[in-house]
Amino acid sequence: MWIRGHDPALSVAENYRAFAAEARGRSPMYESLAASVAGDSLILGFLDSLSADKRQPNLLFAAARYLLGAPADIGRLRALVGQRSPELAQVMLARRTQTNEPARCATLLPALAQLPPPLALIEVGASAGLTLLFDRYCYDYAGHRIAGADPLAPTLRCTPRGPAPLPDRVPAIAWRAGLDLNPLDVTDSDDVRWLSCLVWPGEGDRARRLAAAIACARRDPPAVHRGDLRTDLPALAAQAPAEATLVVYHSAVLAYVTPQDRRRFAATVRGLPAAWLSNEAPGVVPGAPVPAHQGFPFLLTRDGRTPLAFADGHGAWLHWLADLPGAWVAPNCHPVAHLPDSLRHSGSAGEKRPARPRAVPFRMRSVPLLRSGAGN
Ligand SMILES: C[S@@+](CC[C@H](N)C(=O)[O-])C[C@H]1O[C@@H](n2cnc3c(N)ncnc32)[C@H](O)[C@@H]1O
Repeated sequence: MWIRGHDPALSVAENYRAFAAEARGRSPMYESLAASVAGDSLILGFLDSLSADKRQPNLLFAAARYLLGAPADIGRLRALVGQRSPELAQVMLARRTQTNEPARCATLLPALAQLPPPLALIEVGASAGLTLLFDRYCYDYAGHRIAGADPLAPTLRCTPRGPAPLPDRVPAIAWRAGLDLNPLDVTDSDDVRWLSCLVWPGEGDRARRLAAAIACARRDPPAVHRGDLRTDLPALAAQAPAEATLVVYHSAVLAYVTPQDRRRFAATVRGLPAAWLSNEAPGVVPGAPVPAHQGFPFLLTRDGRTPLAFADGHGAWLHWLADLPGAWVAPNCHPVAHLPDSLRHSGSAGEKRPARPRAVPFRMRSVPLLRSGAGN
């Protein structure tokens, strides 16, 4: 399993066709653009001149939007590649796909609320830190509302299905920190522009929600440390307050590292005195059971062992798992993938966790990039 549109086993054209399938029903504009790119020798030639990790549809489309000021259609994209390819390549080399979708908090919250508060949160692959702000947002689960601490923050709307354990409130968060190869700064206008270019056109209110979440984060920015999930997690975990329940979580991140690095990461998290929540495409978390499904959902998994729910990749719905007769089809998804696997619950209740490591100063390349109060 790799990032859709960035599968090293596929040609660039095949990757763009796969991305078109994922965009179907979500972003007609990107579905059509990706399908057109797959048959366009000029654009495919340009992509071939870049390293494999820089050929992704999301990166190309966001970079084009960044330069053009609006989402490209195939005509404008061809003209951009024909006339301004050095500039386009420059943006694609300087930037990465760092979509930060605050609505993913709504799909993670029910799992988070099952842990004993207060919580100490570490998000690996936190981008700008918008998915660290659970307690600031309001939630609306089809009428089940939860108030947030910031009255101006967006309301995250998420349709619950199955026996989702919806909480009445967000658990107390004693401490939080993000870790990212390249933290984005919500107080930096260019970073904010890049974040908005990553939102797919035609996806309802995502752009408005992102703007409101950024405004909320600017009022009190979370700390996102520069570092690599492959090496720097234990040092950050050692900074968490010992009296809080440490939760390591990630969303749309692990697919960016190789399967071998995912296995090492899993071993590292299991060695920490932490609960582990992952919200990733099915099959990304090594060794985690994958219930049969069709479409492109995310799978919410606890401790790398227990699948809890299927979730919309952008937080629109959450389907809590109970009995799953046969293959499950993601709502709003075009079912082209089928990954059968047995549903093996090997719950982690009562599992003995290692003791919290001794706190040592957190010293990576590492200053908290986003400081409290900056940008107000
Ligand atoms: C698609 S974004 C997801 C952001 C956020 N988790 C969310 O759900 O909205 C993936 C993030 O993972 C980060 N990332 C990728 N590889 C990483 C690594 N090895 N260590 C730390 N962060 C990484 C990227 O820089 C990017 O910000």
